[in-house]
Amino acid sequence: METYLLDWANLLLRWLHVIVAIAWIGSSFYFVFLDSSLTPPEDEQLKKDGVSGELWAVHGGGFYHPVKFNVSPPKLPDHLHWFYWESYSTWLSGFALFLVSYLWSPSVYLIDPNVMDWSPAAAITTALAFLVVFWLAYDAICRTLGQSENGDAKVGVLVLLLVCVASYAATQLFAGRAAFLLVGAMIATAMSANVFFWIIPGQRTVVADLKAGRPVDPIHGKRGKQRSVHNTYFTLPVLFAMLSNHYSFTYSHEYNWLILIGMMFAGAAIRQFFVLRHGHKLGRNGHPWPYAAVGVVVLLALIVWLRPAPTQAVAVPQQVGLAQVQDIMAQRCVMCHGEALQSKNVRLDSPEALRQHAQTVYQQVVVTRQMPMNNATGITEEERAIVAQWFRQGAPVE
Ligand code: HEC
Repeated sequence: METYLLDWANLLLRWLHVIVAIAWIGSSFYFVFLDSSLTPPEDEQLKKDGVSGELWAVHGGGFYHPVKFNVSPPKLPDHLHWFYWESYSTWLSGFALFLVSYLWSPSVYLIDPNVMDWSPAAAITTALAFLVVFWLAYDAICRTLGQSENGDAKVGVLVLLLVCVASYAATQLFAGRAAFLLVGAMIATAMSANVFFWIIPGQRTVVADLKAGRPVDPIHGKRGKQRSVHNTYFTLPVLFAMLSNHYSFTYSHEYNWLILIGMMFAGAAIRQFFVLRHGHKLGRNGHPWPYAAVGVVVLLALIVWLRPAPTQAVAVPQQVGLAQVQDIMAQRCVMCHGEALQSKNVRLDSPEALRQHAQTVYQQVVVTRQMPMNNATGITEEERAIVAQWFRQGAPVE
């Protein structure tokens, strides 16, 4: 029952997480686009009011004309919309999801004894420490170097290094699938913390100053903008890390840390292409195609590198009987899909259950090779071949 309810919690939280993440990333992409598409205002009154840029857009049958004020508007309206629940709800639902799967069942998800054989408590504590320590280190880099000369470049290089070190460390400690997810969660935590600790407090200070008639210090806007720009480059890498659990050929590879870094780097480079594209259209910068090219070259290199090795012939019996498959299930699967535990509501301990799940068993064991989870039960190539042969025979269960 517990596993069944956890599966529901997992499903509902995942649904929520994707919905709110779309809202967050969507508004973040929109504002990056808006900022880099602004042109100096044409209207004299707008110029007098201190407007630094404007955009004309048409969407859903209406015309829109957002304007941006240099530092602050002359007067605050009664109602001011703030953007933060998109970010907070994404983090909260993501953390809850991490909790009901990876932290709730650490020996299934988090720990791979072939990578590191340690206690659930130690693995959980270390996983949580990844989230906190990355934020502290990243924040320290931004605080010390953010406002210095060439600050953006220095911060960029150091944060890249930090992500590489964390990726390597995670893959040396956790099951591959968990390591990838953890690196994504770690960066995403920094993104939400940027909103919580810097962007929103900065905006609150500016609003309070305006209301009190005090002069507004532009540093708050500058700092907020810097963190917001970092968040933009983090989005594509984080989304890869979040989706990677569907692709065991990435996280179960011997050099999985390099694959993770390569994919995230490609994502950030491709994001840079999109960020600069609007500026190019307005004649502010050159064509950003080299960034997209770098991203695509890295992806192509990964595609070539990870191509499957020629399969070694394994001897498979011509005719596979139910008993053989049941043996394999009993040895390699039933511990997580039987009486005691029914991971993802899948049981594999009876012929009827095998009949019901034959197709997914084939997919999970032979096609995507995601099962057994982290190959915790040490299934052999021969056994995988037997399952394949059984399925090709029409998955007979008597
Ligand atoms: C160590 C525990 C463990 C072992 C061993 C294991 N599984 Fe799983 N299995 C899981 C978990 C956990 C999930 C849910 C995965 C997820 O959340 O994506 C799962 C999911 C599945 C699913 C459903 C996949 C889907 O997305 O609907 C199938 C089918 C499956 N396993 C088959 C097998 C087979 C066949 C074996 C043996 C060859 C096996 N499992 C061994 C833990 C295990």
